[in-house]
Amino acid sequence: MSVPRKPSPETLAIHGHYDVFRSEGAVKPPLFAASTFAARSSAELAHFFDQAYGLTAPASNPDGLVYSRLVNPDLEIYERRVAEFEQADDAALFSSGMAAIFTAAFTFCKPGDRLLFSEPVYGGTDYLYRHMLPAWGVETHSFPVDGPVEQLDALLAETERVSFVHVESPANPTLLLADIPGIVEVTRARHPDAVVAVDNTVLGPIFQRVLALGADLALYSATKMLSGHSDLVAGLVMGDKARISAIKGSRTILNMNDPHAAWLLLRSLETLKVRAEASEAKAKKVATYLANHPAVTAVLYPGLQHEGEQQRRFHAQTTGQGSLLSFRVHGGREEAYTVLDRLKVAVLAVSLGSTETLAEHPRTHTHSDVPPQDQDRFGISENLIRLSVGLEDADDIIADLAQALEAAL
Ligand SMILES: Cc1ncc(COP(=O)(O)O)c(C=O)c1O
Repeated sequence: MSVPRKPSPETLAIHGHYDVFRSEGAVKPPLFAASTFAARSSAELAHFFDQAYGLTAPASNPDGLVYSRLVNPDLEIYERRVAEFEQADDAALFSSGMAAIFTAAFTFCKPGDRLLFSEPVYGGTDYLYRHMLPAWGVETHSFPVDGPVEQLDALLAETERVSFVHVESPANPTLLLADIPGIVEVTRARHPDAVVAVDNTVLGPIFQRVLALGADLALYSATKMLSGHSDLVAGLVMGDKARISAIKGSRTILNMNDPHAAWLLLRSLETLKVRAEASEAKAKKVATYLANHPAVTAVLYPGLQHEGEQQRRFHAQTTGQGSLLSFRVHGGREEAYTVLDRLKVAVLAVSLGSTETLAEHPRTHTHSDVPPQDQDRFGISENLIRLSVGLEDADDIIADLAQALEAAL
């Protein structure tokens, strides 16, 4: 007897978790632009509230909807479909990546707790952990993303009440990889109740699945590859039922996303894999071109630039290189700015993972709120340019870089 095949995430992204006949036969989930939902009786509405707040198990009507700050059909369908890609029980969609990260940390950290985070991290995350959480009584400590796991182990050993460990891997903008399974192992041994959360924005979920590597939570800026078209801002947390339900409890009060963003994300999810793979193929060509260019002193790209431990982590944890890379040009800020200002195909703008190629200067753009001495420590130098390769013809992107880099020769 043949065993029924479980559909893959790509198939479920197109057909999963949606009954067309509950929406007039509409083949795609319609946009449920509704803030509030009617019930047939007061008792039914009370029951829906109990379900939404997790007080009763879904019984008579598992789909009782109340109010779109609690749940909305577009968000629910999207969350179920996207969770398949990380093999997560559930997902929670937020109004931004930062809202997702903040709410996850807020849910599991109380005043007096400690939060540890890898560095470097995206500038907004750095600001949240260095300035905002400490002001609310959560002490934060950092550890180098590329360091040996023994270094984190020593920090865990000397730090009490660690409740949250945040890892960003690959790190934005230096693309260095953390030892995710190693971090999970030492954290579990020292602080069994601590939550390990990994920001998987840069490679996931197509080239890296962090829950499968042992993390408790996968964090995403869904503004990036998951959206892929630079037309919305959103964030995600994925994980097991209990943690995601606790996070959704905080989200109800703090920061839900709107149905329109979820509806656009549903469309983006159908092409996620083809977009990720196609832009990666172009990024590999661009990286090879840059690595051989006389005006370029270094290319930072997962699996390309590092020997030894970084190479081991790359092979053990990822299935691809993705479409984000950084490179250093001869000179300093002036030369980097000159190259950036001459680009014509690539757009001078922050963000990543979109159909258009995007270029920026991390030191003065995305990571400008990281203090200069920390930027120096992380290698966020004046001559560093970050490039998110899009879906334009690879030769057009390369020709554009060639004419821009002439200025740095
Ligand atoms: C790795 C990473 N995490 C989180 C964020 C924050 O996401 P958002 O801009 O959607 O709030 C970003 C944004 O660039 C990012 O690059």
